[in-house]
Amino acid sequence: MTVGNGSNGAGRHQPVSAPLLEVRDLSQAFGAMLAVNNLSFEVYPGEVFGVAGPNGAGKTTLFNVITGFLPGTGAVLFEGLNINHLKPHQICRNGIARTFQIPQVFSTLDVFNNVRFGAHFGNPHLKNENQVIRDAIDFVGLKGKEIAIAGNLDLFHKKSIMIAAALATVPKLLLLDEPIGGLSPTEIGPLIRLIQRINKELGITIIVIEHLMKALKELSHRLMILHYGEMIRIGTPEEVMVDKKVREVYLG
Ligand SMILES: Nc1ncnc2c1ncn2[C@@H]1O[C@H](COP(=O)(O)OP(=O)(O)O)[C@@H](O)[C@H]1O
Ligand SMILES: [Mg+2]
Repeated sequence: MTVGNGSNGAGRHQPVSAPLLEVRDLSQAFGAMLAVNNLSFEVYPGEVFGVAGPNGAGKTTLFNVITGFLPGTGAVLFEGLNINHLKPHQICRNGIARTFQIPQVFSTLDVFNNVRFGAHFGNPHLKNENQVIRDAIDFVGLKGKEIAIAGNLDLFHKKSIMIAAALATVPKLLLLDEPIGGLSPTEIGPLIRLIQRINKELGITIIVIEHLMKALKELSHRLMILHYGEMIRIGTPEEVMVDKKVREVYLG
């Protein structure tokens, strides 16, 4: 783990390595409304970085700008390279994968071909593509369901397909948009453990948007709270959850 202890006054870590992702003065406007407002933060290699905030705070928009689905002003540096002029597939090929808040699967395709799409998006010339696909399917626990049609599966399995497709792009950084949202209480634990295994066993850095604070506390090394597109606090979950402003605007 390369993350610091988060105990300095600004709630920032003293990095022991260069950031994997640096967001600098990032803004994104829908008409006159700034969905992301001059946001700056860093994510370090090995971290699970949580993002929370009220509905409409700009969390999904932030992911859309980082992954090239929406334009933004400011800079997004990944391994020191400015990626905010790149297209989504180019950003993915640099090592950033994502999942979506509303599960996006190809309903008429089977599990294997859904995950193949991810592998291809990440690298169209992958030599060991079938092995990468099988490994991703096994890792998320979908082994045996390779020929199941995605549209016939429940939400938990659709989310698992989306995560497997993201893993098949062989990312260094994985962005998860509300991976736990909509799951039943018995499904939440397994999904949290899957996210932890992706981080620990595969060594993939993770940014996770989530509403369930209990899950975020369990998962995140550091947490950022957004409100009207602005960062109101970054720190360890313990620091953030006792913060007066965070309690006012989010935790109530
Ligand atoms: N495509 C869009 N067009 C116009 N406004 C949008 C669009 N997407 C999001 N917004 C607005 O941007 C703000 C941030 O939305 P979003 O990033 O989805 O928030 P969150 O994920 O934190 O709930 C909200 O006010 C939302 O209504
Ligand atoms: Mg959202």
